[in-house]
Amino acid sequence: MCGIVGFTGKRQAAPVLLDGLSKLEYRGYDSAGIAVRLGDKDTEIIKEKGKLKKLADKTDNGNAVKGCCGIGHTRWATHGEPSALNAHPHASDDENVIAVHNGIIENYQELKGKLVKSGYEFKSQTDTEVAVKLVDYYYKKYNGGPVDAIARAMYRIRGSYALCVMFKDYAGEIYTARKDSPMIIGIADGETYVASDVPAILKYTRNVYYIGNMEIARLEKGKVTFYNIDREEIIKELTEIKWDAESAEKGGYEHFMMKEIHEQSKVIKGTINSVVTNGKVHFDSVNLTDEEMQQIQQIYIVACGSAYHVGVAAQYVIEELTSLQVRVELASEFRYRKMKLSKNSLVIVISQSGETADTLAALREAKEQGVKTLAIVNVVGSSIAREADNVFYTLAGPEISVATTKAYSTQLIAGYLLALQFAKARNEIEEKRYKTLLAEINTIPEKVEKILQDKERIQWFANKLINIKDAFFIGRGIDYAIGMEGSLKLKEISYIHSEAYAAGELKHGPISLIEDGTIVISVVTQENLTEKTISNMVEVKSRGAHLMAVTTAGNYFIEDTAEFVSYVPKIDQLFAGSLSVVPLQLLGYYVSIGKGFDVDKPRNLAKSVTVE
Ligand code: F6R
Repeated sequence: MCGIVGFTGKRQAAPVLLDGLSKLEYRGYDSAGIAVRLGDKDTEIIKEKGKLKKLADKTDNGNAVKGCCGIGHTRWATHGEPSALNAHPHASDDENVIAVHNGIIENYQELKGKLVKSGYEFKSQTDTEVAVKLVDYYYKKYNGGPVDAIARAMYRIRGSYALCVMFKDYAGEIYTARKDSPMIIGIADGETYVASDVPAILKYTRNVYYIGNMEIARLEKGKVTFYNIDREEIIKELTEIKWDAESAEKGGYEHFMMKEIHEQSKVIKGTINSVVTNGKVHFDSVNLTDEEMQQIQQIYIVACGSAYHVGVAAQYVIEELTSLQVRVELASEFRYRKMKLSKNSLVIVISQSGETADTLAALREAKEQGVKTLAIVNVVGSSIAREADNVFYTLAGPEISVATTKAYSTQLIAGYLLALQFAKARNEIEEKRYKTLLAEINTIPEKVEKILQDKERIQWFANKLINIKDAFFIGRGIDYAIGMEGSLKLKEISYIHSEAYAAGELKHGPISLIEDGTIVISVVTQENLTEKTISNMVEVKSRGAHLMAVTTAGNYFIEDTAEFVSYVPKIDQLFAGSLSVVPLQLLGYYVSIGKGFDVDKPRNLAKSVTVE
């Protein structure tokens, strides 16, 4: 989705803006632009449709634009086609106000009507131009300065936004405001940065402020002042981001996705170690007490996409280890359902970005109903992290590839540890089993590492799938949950139609799709369900399907049925998903690059979905 970068300091702004925007390219965009203050009054605006490189070429990597204060944007079209005209920054007619914007202004038509009556003309089809002119209108009408004008515009705007605004009369200053769209402000050595996402400024500083919803900030060189919507000054704490700059670079890998697949072992270990010490899970940092865990009767897990798949897997583990009832819900559905949540329930939202609009809305709905909430989140200081009652941070570090891998894996770990701790706090697990399961969780990092040694074989098999049109993933129990994730990985980066089915469901319809050569990938790690899944594999094989299986070492008999088998090390079957997902991530990756696609930036997708 769209990206924002802003800078004011001693250095030239344009190279910083272009560099920052390049770090946000992974979010997906179709046009880009920058605006740089040339001096006291003039500003140069340069916009291009297409890749950021065009903008860099046009400006000699930014060196041709001289000025130390500016804003930049990568746009992912929502209102109006991708074009240089619709690209940001947008300006009021006299360039009094120039701004970039992320999000969607829902009432932009109504506001535009009002502005047209006041004599404003519109050049683009964007909602952003409406916001710019609305700020300009209030600035001129009330003469109260930038903060006043922005605050007045914020009263009127409905929807989500992260705005960066420059005013002609305020050289060297940038004003920002946000509601439900992320934005951070960084500071270092007399220079100030603003960005919609951490990687954009990580190279320059790790000291950041989080600007809250409905707040405004005034950025000067090396200085930030915050205001609430009533224009009262507010004080904020500086936070240090622990991510290092290298973690947002490719580090010798050809693609971020492969790098992130390889990082899984390390980040899983980090996530385990963040709550496990001396052979015990400690939830002090999560702020969830044993007493609270005893009182909870029902758990709702709410998330989108891969994070939802984590929820499905976690459901099996929690239900196996505890007496808790668990429901897993898609956030986009949950938020509009009229569910009456019982008082003794816990709503767990799972999100890498912490900014997914539907998940955030689901969290708010739960809070509105007075239910306790817990977020499993990767991005520190994100909206979901700030709004949830309790937070379990996954320590995946920055995930750049649009298709999630390492964040997914750390979310699964968080799910296991929660299940285990709930069981312990509720006296539903014997000490011996608790210890054994915890020890098993501790073996996951090294086992994940081992699976990566099989990647060449998986690449060999993936190359055979390059021309297929459809694929089906089947499994039972946790294997079904992992099949869902494997299927999403394949479809989102290789554009092959793919579906995941609970293996037992095949005969209720989907089996009619099986014909000669159809690829069926089965996940078979759950001992008690192995025979049943193999029967389903035989059923599809006898109808012409070609079979791949992911199974546990030792199940060599599966080679009698499947043409290609990827083995994962033995582990307690509750946690087998952490291993069986890895060959499926690799499969998706290799099919995508085999087809020549941009695996890190699949078409039409954005890394964080901050709009509905
Ligand atoms: C798929 C993928 C998405 C995300 C989903 C939720 O590879 O990454 O399906 O899992 O958009 O995003 P977060 O976790 O940021 O809420």
